[in-house]
Amino acid sequence: MTHSASAMPLESRASGPLNGRVRVPGDKSISHRALILGALSVGESRISGLLEGEDVLNTAKAMRALGAKVERRGDFVWKVDGVGVGGFAQPHNALDFGNSGTGCRLVMGAVAGCPITAVFDGDASLRSRPMRRILDPLELMGARTGETGEGGRLPVTLSGARYPVPITYRTPVASAQIKSAVLLAGLSAPGVTTVIEQEASRDHTELMLKHFGADIVSAREGTHGRRITLTGEPELHGADIVVPADPSSAAFPIVAALIVEGSDIALSDVMTNPLRTGLFTTLREMGASIEEGEVRGDAGEPMAQLRVRASRLRGVEVPPERAPSMIDEYLVLAVAAAFAEGTTIMRGLRELRVKESDRLAATADMLRVNGVEAEIAGDDLIVEGRGHVPGGGLVGTHMDHRIAMSALVMGLAADKPVKVDDTAFIATSFPDFIPMMRALGAELS
Ligand code: S3P
Repeated sequence: MTHSASAMPLESRASGPLNGRVRVPGDKSISHRALILGALSVGESRISGLLEGEDVLNTAKAMRALGAKVERRGDFVWKVDGVGVGGFAQPHNALDFGNSGTGCRLVMGAVAGCPITAVFDGDASLRSRPMRRILDPLELMGARTGETGEGGRLPVTLSGARYPVPITYRTPVASAQIKSAVLLAGLSAPGVTTVIEQEASRDHTELMLKHFGADIVSAREGTHGRRITLTGEPELHGADIVVPADPSSAAFPIVAALIVEGSDIALSDVMTNPLRTGLFTTLREMGASIEEGEVRGDAGEPMAQLRVRASRLRGVEVPPERAPSMIDEYLVLAVAAAFAEGTTIMRGLRELRVKESDRLAATADMLRVNGVEAEIAGDDLIVEGRGHVPGGGLVGTHMDHRIAMSALVMGLAADKPVKVDDTAFIATSFPDFIPMMRALGAELS
């Protein structure tokens, strides 16, 4: 999905206490996977709570282009009739994933196990992101890469393998996207495909594959890692999925409530999978009041209600091994760190450089234009918290939804308003962000 040339700027201002209960949209990672696994299953899958953001809608379109029947049945309720493992049809046009690395990379894995050729494309942000990390293991499994952009970037033509080979693959970085691409290709391979990660990344693909009937086992590897073994050629059966609320989206109202004095908010059904909740751990270490209600689960994914109250925060050191469990949350953590008292050091953030934008540079810029001292030292980010933020800056979004939302959160408690140059990309992951924040009491205009 492409955005119109006219940018949508917005300003946020110091707001009264935030109050109320909200349910942020469905988890983006789970929404992509539900559509893809539904499409690779035999029979019908019913997904409720699907994130209807642009990223996920692009994956839905891709599944249709590859032969699955995908229908919207009501608000956030979708039905998928799958083609079975290895059953994707040759698409007639390029698959356009817009801004979404997850959609693009996971579907590359799924296509690699089918005897078809597909062209993968995306917007300027996605065209700038590395794809070799996905293509390398898929080639080892028998897929062939045709034409690509510079350095293996999009647009990429990928031909899947007629007889995929199961492999044992050690991921070079902790990335659920690499792991998932190999596992999805491995579905079509006879025998056992193994992925070894030195540091565990989010395990939604593994949990959901099990839910759809695959034989998949995850064991500890070393101190922080995992070894995942998948038996190929399973028959996946359509299944029902309830998508929990996205903790990465919940992060924005959570940090907003912590920094706006007097706030007290509740968030329903937030996913609490421990491989996604590094931000909550870190915020609690900083002194945040985040209470978790009773935990319930669906398809192996836990969720709970969270109550968040404004809190006095202090700077902390965030260890590098926590990065995979909060990789998308450093931008908004940096906002919390700016309002804290003392220095926050976030270690091991190399992967932030290859997200929707160079988030390491963008985070430092976002803080500096608003009067906060921030330094990048190697792969670490150091933020000097002074208990308040001067604000008054204009933040560049760089086609990155999370920069826009983080900067707007910052403005809610800054001394002077904070402006972002373009809010259009918020629609990729959190289409109702602005009305939802306003309903809680945020001043955005
Ligand atoms: C995701 C994995 C992460 C994350 C992205 C979603 C996923 O990327 O940043 O927003 O759903 O698998 P990496 O696996 O490349 O770290």
